[in-house]
Amino acid sequence: MTVDRVDWSADDVLRHLRSSPVFRQLDDESLAAVADCATISLVPAGDAVMDEGATGDEAFVVIAGRLDVLTRSSDGSVRSVNHLGPGDVVGEMALITDEPRSATVRARRDSALMRIGASDFRSIVLEHPEALLDITRTVMQRLNHSIHDERPKSSRSV
Ligand code: CMP
Repeated sequence: MTVDRVDWSADDVLRHLRSSPVFRQLDDESLAAVADCATISLVPAGDAVMDEGATGDEAFVVIAGRLDVLTRSSDGSVRSVNHLGPGDVVGEMALITDEPRSATVRARRDSALMRIGASDFRSIVLEHPEALLDITRTVMQRLNHSIHDERPKSSRSV
């Protein structure tokens, strides 16, 4: 694991992984293996983490901060479909479906993210079906939220 700020210790990272719904069922040894293949990225407010339509080669767990999930409509307007915070996984869909990124994800505040590359992500979910089940549950809850709350939280042109 690469930590690019001195105040992120390996213990901090493990604690955050443990609090993520996606990794909470893993034992300490497996969590340490996940932390070992992860790097911490610090993303300033306003920066994009990923762009809608791009190829996905990494997923992230939010450690600190807040992210906006934005989608572009055919008329060019941009809709905020959700916000993500600590413990949430993001960028998992393209790694599972091999399809382009479904949304743009942008830091709403300065944020710290744990980056997991595509091949490590695939190894983790193949070795830990319970993690894959939690990811599936998360994606289904997001889908359910989209189905039942179609009102845009905000809309702007970019
Ligand atoms: P992916 O499609 O790889 O890239 C964009 C990411 O945004 C996607 O994975 C999800 O992690 C996230 N995402 C897409 N739609 C939603 C949503 N409705 N709620 C929360 N996160 C989402």
